[in-house]
Amino acid sequence: MDMLDIIRSKKKNIPLSKKEIEFVIQGYVNGTIPDYQMSALLMAICFNGMNYKELLNLTIAIIDSGDVMDLSKINAVTVDKHSTGGVGDKTTLIIAPIVAALGGHVAKMSGKGLGHTGGTVDKLESIEGFRTNLSEREFFNQVKKIGVALISQTGNLTPADKKIYALRDVTATVDSIPLIASSVMSKKIAAGSDCILLDVKVGSGAFMKDIKEATELAEKMIQIGKGAGRKVVALITNMEEPLGKNIGNSLEVKEAIEILNGKGPEDLREVSIEIASYMLMMCTEKNLDEIREEVIKCIDSGKALERFKEMVRLQGGNEDYISNPELFPKAKYEDYVYADYAGYISKMDTETIGIVSGKLGVGREKKEDEIDYTAGIILNKKTGDYVEKGEILATLYSSKFSDMEELKENFKEAIEIQKEKLDNLNKSKVLKVLK
Ligand code: URA
Repeated sequence: MDMLDIIRSKKKNIPLSKKEIEFVIQGYVNGTIPDYQMSALLMAICFNGMNYKELLNLTIAIIDSGDVMDLSKINAVTVDKHSTGGVGDKTTLIIAPIVAALGGHVAKMSGKGLGHTGGTVDKLESIEGFRTNLSEREFFNQVKKIGVALISQTGNLTPADKKIYALRDVTATVDSIPLIASSVMSKKIAAGSDCILLDVKVGSGAFMKDIKEATELAEKMIQIGKGAGRKVVALITNMEEPLGKNIGNSLEVKEAIEILNGKGPEDLREVSIEIASYMLMMCTEKNLDEIREEVIKCIDSGKALERFKEMVRLQGGNEDYISNPELFPKAKYEDYVYADYAGYISKMDTETIGIVSGKLGVGREKKEDEIDYTAGIILNKKTGDYVEKGEILATLYSSKFSDMEELKENFKEAIEIQKEKLDNLNKSKVLKVLK
């Protein structure tokens, strides 16, 4: 087989065979196919796409490049969740204990954050002592015991995806629906859960900027998941403004605790209830309305918070942080962004807000960068809110920078204020469900 012929085929939009796809993935991982040829093929895929068979074969070849988690030792139906990424998205911290408290089994591996948002692992590690590096035995035992464990990736899962993703990042080939779908689903399938809930974000803070694209991505991921024998549901949720009010690792854990205490911002509570309900629907086969009621009760009774505390305790974290979030260390510096004029917030550029939070120290630019758990933003106002001239729009936190003037200006540029109140605001909510 010849890589040049394979590139030529894809350039002419001739579908690749299973054997050709396996040849490419194996050759790229073992170094016989160089970056420049792989880049050319990725660009041809960007332009010409992939049909269902190619997509499934590509996903399976990526999975076969590494280890696969065998969750059968848990002896229960397991359910996982994946978000395509958003600003202020801390739903995993909320839904995992809810699902576990209602009888589900969440054996979840999460990533560290790269770029402008922290990952779930970073958020959890902001709790003093919390261990995300459980051994496989500890991981399985904990899921059997309390229905939930949240850990960082173990084993050598999907090495082909790691190598290809790094190349896509520097060759402008990230924003291709087939490449995103196979990348996400290879990781989810290799992580071993029977059921997968996909939260596909759409809007200014997401990869997918419109609902048509988001729907196409969701449909492709569902097809792949089903083709690999998994149950999959996709929710398409709005990301035209950050989810909730807190952005940043420990700030997001604090907000998740608020929600688990039956308080917190309505948008975050609503989206979390929907995600948890669909996850439970997949693994229990119960009726959705009935489950939704149970989820609400589980939050309002404090049962879900108790399960979160139990998880923190079992993973070595200081449980007092959960009972008393004031214990989370505070950022060394804080500064306020004031409104220049009065009016209603009509728009928030989520991506810019994410970038400002990254610069404050929330994320990492390089893998080896230290993360600032205390850094972030608390939004005082969101779309639809009225703001007086001189009122605080947001508070910025950092332990790295005392001078936040430029970041405050950047933040202000992300906020649009109008005299008139708009009726159809794009609040964060579930827009569509696909099965
Ligand atoms: N997230 C992934 O895991 N892969 C992509 O290709 C894009 C986002």
